[in-house]
Amino acid sequence: MAAQNQLPDKMKALVLRSTSEPPAIETVPTPQPTLGSALVRVLAASVISYTRDVYNGKRNYPYPMPIIPGFSAIGRVVAVGPDATKLKPGDLVFIDCTVRSRDDPTDVFLAAVHESYTPGAAKLMKDVFRDWTFAEYCRVPLENMTLLDERRLTGSRGDGGFGLGIEQLGFVAGVLVPYGGLRDIELRAGQTVVIAPASGPFGGAAVLVALAMGARVIAMGRNTESLAYLKQKMPYPGRIETVAITGDMEADCAELKKYGPIDAYFDIGPPEAYASTHIKSCILTLRHGARISLMGGYREDIPIPHVFIMHKNIRLYGKWMYEREDIVDLVKMVENGVLDLRTIENAGQFPLEQWKEAWDDAAEKTGFDQLVVIKP
Ligand SMILES: NC(=O)c1ccc[n+]([C@@H]2O[C@H](COP(=O)([O-])OP(=O)(O)OC[C@H]3O[C@@H](n4cnc5c(N)ncnc54)[C@H](OP(=O)(O)O)[C@@H]3O)[C@@H](O)[C@H]2O)c1
Repeated sequence: MAAQNQLPDKMKALVLRSTSEPPAIETVPTPQPTLGSALVRVLAASVISYTRDVYNGKRNYPYPMPIIPGFSAIGRVVAVGPDATKLKPGDLVFIDCTVRSRDDPTDVFLAAVHESYTPGAAKLMKDVFRDWTFAEYCRVPLENMTLLDERRLTGSRGDGGFGLGIEQLGFVAGVLVPYGGLRDIELRAGQTVVIAPASGPFGGAAVLVALAMGARVIAMGRNTESLAYLKQKMPYPGRIETVAITGDMEADCAELKKYGPIDAYFDIGPPEAYASTHIKSCILTLRHGARISLMGGYREDIPIPHVFIMHKNIRLYGKWMYEREDIVDLVKMVENGVLDLRTIENAGQFPLEQWKEAWDDAAEKTGFDQLVVIKP
């Protein structure tokens, strides 16, 4: 393998052995890069709002154990497998946790998070890519890394850079999720999209990225203070409106219609919002031929007004995460200044030893600009 200069034999990692016991910091063998992968030093690993629930079993996500938990991250390549043609040691990369089988890309899973529901995905996760980024080092498939222009992103303003911190780059993981759904429904500049709920981390990220894509956004949520904060903090003023989810479906429809015609509806509700009135009110205010992206974490069926959808030629799309080309394009948006990550100011940063504080902090910080990262 190329350039494995002085890699330590052992590394520090958070290890989960059972969902009924908390994970613990352990010293484990440092993984080695293999054909098709690279070894990366993890610099900032994203902690999402429901991390605790993923690893205490509350979300019931399937994954093998023991496991080194973690989500997407920012890292530095330290060694590459012999088939890498672009990446090299020293490169700053975005590490994507969405792993796809090479001989059947429909076997897709989230490394260390969710083995998905196909035998092939479960096998690949169990046998090869189960351990992830809450560790000093992580072995990552080559195609799961996107090279970042470090000078442009982290360089000083005087030097033509954006002056972003490594932890702010971690927000790429947050905006990528809604970007996957918004790209899937072909949201275009000048169109109007309603985003609900918009007050959570992924909903707020959806507002930011939809604005950067040139759309006009109607942000919906129950908490009007959060909506007001969102509107005030967003760059691109003048293209964002807010509508409260009041629980009165008809009244909310009437509010939404004031901003019509609406071209698209993007939904990213948490499991507990499966019966929320916003789902139907958003659909019933769409124009003929509009598109819907469902990315929420609902575990129950949700109310769909069939007759309206059928007569209005509405197209309904589901989306899990995003495609590989979405990552490349989103990174270009950031590097070219189209998507401004400087909005993200409140990064909570924790060493690996404070993983519990990080998970608790992420559960508390529900704003779109309150990223939490672990720096192992
Ligand atoms: N498809 C994918 O690939 C994908 C990827 C990542 C995440 N997800 C899903 O996206 C979901 C949202 O993630 P998140 O981190 O933004 O979640 P979150 O913080 O748990 O929830 C988002 C917002 O939902 C609102 N909400 C809560 N209960 C509600 C209810 N009963 N009715 C209406 N609104 C309610 C809350 O806002 P207010 O209190 O202000 O109303 C909250 O801030 C996750 O649950 C996850 O499963 C999907």
